[in-house]
Amino acid sequence: MLQVENLHVSYGGIAAVRGLSLTVAAGEVVAIIGPNGAGKSTTLAAIAGGVSPREGTITYGGMGITGRRPEDIARMGVSLVPEGRHVFATLTVEENLAIGTYMLGHRSKTSADVAAVLERFPRLQERRHFPAGRLSGGEQQMLVIARAMLTQPKLMLVDEPSLGLAPLIIDQVYDILLDLRRRQGLSLLIVEQSTSRILKHADRIYVVRSGAVQLVDRAQALKDGEAIKRAYFGFEEVRA
Ligand SMILES: Nc1ncnc2c1ncn2[C@@H]1O[C@H](COP(=O)(O)OP(=O)(O)O)[C@@H](O)[C@H]1O
Ligand SMILES: [Mg+2]
Repeated sequence: MLQVENLHVSYGGIAAVRGLSLTVAAGEVVAIIGPNGAGKSTTLAAIAGGVSPREGTITYGGMGITGRRPEDIARMGVSLVPEGRHVFATLTVEENLAIGTYMLGHRSKTSADVAAVLERFPRLQERRHFPAGRLSGGEQQMLVIARAMLTQPKLMLVDEPSLGLAPLIIDQVYDILLDLRRRQGLSLLIVEQSTSRILKHADRIYVVRSGAVQLVDRAQALKDGEAIKRAYFGFEEVRA
């Protein structure tokens, strides 16, 4: 479904991503983990068209999308949920959903569109007349995921959904994401800094450091954590 090959992205001469390659198959949950500054967010931004690669190719559904405009990529079924849970604090949950997709180049949504998405998000459903600024961190994370669902994506790119959330709330956010995969066949590419939750939920894991993939394997194979730690921190094995 998605193929990223030899991706290079620079910001004013500083290389943020250096030769990164990854794939996501239809229906897969794939994770990118790695330390702060590894180039994870930049990789998602490049896939979504927010930054232009200096080198490399991005293919989605068999079509080259490298360097295409974000609105075009969104219309093809790729939706980015950026880090930081940006919502309009004074607008209600419903209003956030109704207008939030403008930014992605979509028409404004009807109340029927909004109602259909809210059915998948019971907590938001209950709070649909609340100002978004009064939601908890977990509810705001659900709101930005719900907003992304309004564009009817086939592939969702989710940047650090667990950041700053309590473990129980992280589980609820992942329950929502996995439910969307199960019921709607959504494919997921999820960035996280910590491995604790993602190892449980991902099919495959890429460990990224300094803008390139250091390790890739099935999540199941990485359960013991040692290989991840070495790839994540760059420890070399000490030989006697
Ligand atoms: N808009 C930007 N302008 C300049 N440098 C940036 C910008 N965004 C990110 N960087 C730099 O690119 C590198 C990778 O950043 P990022 O993709 O945000 O990493 P991660 O998401 O893994 O923490 C970092 O060194 C960061 O400082
Ligand atoms: Mg980031």
